[in-house]
Amino acid sequence: MNFQWYPGHMTKAKRMMQEDIKLVDLVIELVDARIPFSSRNPDIDELGKNKARIILLNKSDLASERYNVQWEKWFQEKGYFVVKINAKNGNGIKAVHTAIQEACKEKTERDRKRGILNRPVRAMVVGIPNVGKSTFINTFAGKACTKTGNRPGVTKGKQWIKLGKGVELLDTPGILWPKFEDQRVGLLLALIGSIRDEILNITELGTEFLRLLIEYYPGMLKERYGVEEKEKAEFLLEEIAKNRGCLSKGGEYDIEKAANLLLDDFRNGKIGKITLEFPDVE
Ligand code: G4P
Repeated sequence: MNFQWYPGHMTKAKRMMQEDIKLVDLVIELVDARIPFSSRNPDIDELGKNKARIILLNKSDLASERYNVQWEKWFQEKGYFVVKINAKNGNGIKAVHTAIQEACKEKTERDRKRGILNRPVRAMVVGIPNVGKSTFINTFAGKACTKTGNRPGVTKGKQWIKLGKGVELLDTPGILWPKFEDQRVGLLLALIGSIRDEILNITELGTEFLRLLIEYYPGMLKERYGVEEKEKAEFLLEEIAKNRGCLSKGGEYDIEKAANLLLDDFRNGKIGKITLEFPDVE
């Protein structure tokens, strides 16, 4: 399968990010807990150097808890502050406040030594499209937040969300694009729905997903769709179509419908908690 992207968007997004990042002390990067590696942007480490860094493993409700823990450890070992969250229902959000204080300890200390007291920590949220940035900002800021308008001498044209506990969040997240040259990365991003389905071959995508599921989570397909995993992935879509009554107008089994059903079920967490990428830990 061939995944394509649009370099024009990438260049513009990167330029905006370079500007915005100058305004903040802290970069809060969201990744998708189901594919924490492939849902990162390759430039973010360079862009965010010299800044405090937090990684949020978002959509952790859809991923396997066992691997959430492993990924958390993996990122921590690389020097990031890490929090597992569900931006949609707010799980883990409290811990983000603690992580911010921890991540910015050095800055706060430096300020204190210079006699600067109570200067808020400025943060921005970054991540690839659809990773949950807006959802996170809404949940994190909650109703209590107040938007600060343009302030003279400070970041003209930028809106900041004042959070309690001395934190200000740039209200527009930084959108960055994932790494696209790698076909496996493309496949994983397509599976989680980060690439528009219209430009993809759904049947092929569904078949690839079945292969991964059989390899990593044996038994799950049988449990959900009653199909025998001994069949080759190519034939399993038809089996799913049979068991789920996916029929075309002519009354034949509709493989594409079955693939759509399968992918929707995965993206909504109905098949189970599924991580598709694993950290290199013992
Ligand atoms: P973005 O700004 O990074 O582009 O992402 P956005 O917040 O728009 O979120 C993309 C989708 O991911 C939304 O679903 C959102 O509800 C969902 N989402 C965000 N965080 C989580 C999470 O922690 N867990 C789960 N399960 N879903 C999450 P949508 O289908 O576009 O909208 P809706 O169906 O929620 O209305």
